Amino acid sequence: MTNENTQKHLLEVKNLEVSFYTHAGEVKAVGGIDYNLGYNEVMGIVGESGSGKSVEAYSIMGLLANPGKVKGGEVFFEGEDILKYSKKQMEDFRGNKASMIFQNPMTCLNPVYTIGNQLMEAILVHKKISRQEAWDKAVSMLELVGISNPERRMKQYPHELSGGMRQRVMIGMGLICEPKLLIADEPTTALDVTIQAQILELMKTIQQKTKMSIIFITHNLGVVAKICDKVSVMYAGKIVEQGTVDDIFYSPSHPYTLGLMRSMPRIDASEHERLVSIEGTPVDMLNPPEGCGFAARCDHCMKLCLRAHPPMVDLGNGHKSSCWLLTMVPGKGGADNE
Ligand SMILES: Nc1ncnc2c1ncn2[C@@H]1O[C@H](COP(=O)(O)OP(=O)(O)OP(=O)(O)O)[C@@H](O)[C@H]1O
Ligand SMILES: [Mg+2]
Repeated sequence: MTNENTQKHLLEVKNLEVSFYTHAGEVKAVGGIDYNLGYNEVMGIVGESGSGKSVEAYSIMGLLANPGKVKGGEVFFEGEDILKYSKKQMEDFRGNKASMIFQNPMTCLNPVYTIGNQLMEAILVHKKISRQEAWDKAVSMLELVGISNPERRMKQYPHELSGGMRQRVMIGMGLICEPKLLIADEPTTALDVTIQAQILELMKTIQQKTKMSIIFITHNLGVVAKICDKVSVMYAGKIVEQGTVDDIFYSPSHPYTLGLMRSMPRIDASEHERLVSIEGTPVDMLNPPEGCGFAARCDHCMKLCLRAHPPMVDLGNGHKSSCWLLTMVPGKGGADNE
């Protein structure tokens, strides 16, 4: 990797492959993905359930549980391959440089400790400061995430808070060590729409203030439009299209992305217009097909698509898409259109 790249991107993921070695066989959850995340950049990862979004995030954070294993690839964070880190270095990375927030706050809040205790612990493990300083920092973090009466909340237990408030506390926990990278895995899905909008607004404000980079995993394209600069669309363990939010919303080029866009409710839709769902079932990751993962569900499927996985085609300015159709430039002897 060149020095130029080190300075340009906070995170560089190269050909990351992750598998689960189960009794039934190898589940190829992530099948070689590449992307870069710049400083002060927010990237959305979208894709249907089981496409590998969470597994990819867990792998970066070193949180992959058995029988999951990173099978190949590199993940550079500020130029260092974090997949080569020792357990100790990884713990340090997770506390000081990167953190992750989850869909369910109870996965990271401990029910038997007070909110204050948990926030302070998160600071004291990684920073050499006094308990009083940690208390003050925790109180200001609760204020920052919009929790009223923070001094009182510090002494409460997670079950005494509403769902929205717990989600705010978890965002606070994720931010308290001022990470350069935040991975948010569906952090608002469990909340009602009003609270969801508030939390998104909050994350946007904090991101603009701290300039941290965020990977935002979601099913919700509305969330992507609201908070992200660019998007990676995942299907069956692979990134099938990448681009800016405008590229993905206004000029989608992969048939799966087109399907996703058609399945999104439109504000200008007539009353009787139906949402188009994508026909077919997701790929069985135990026995993934040889060719394009989307071929069986694609209206444009050709014989070639069943035989070989399409290359990532560069459409310019960071917009990339992996579909054989895009390789067929008339007169240039593209792939065999059968
Ligand atoms: N512990 C496990 N053992 C075996 N396979 C697993 C395990 N965890 C995940 N997988 C497989 O890895 C693939 C990707 O799962 P992942 O959780 O990343 O999907 P996702 O895109 O985050 O979906 P969702 O939107 O539902 O959260 C799936 O095919 C899933 O079956
Ligand atoms: Mg997930």
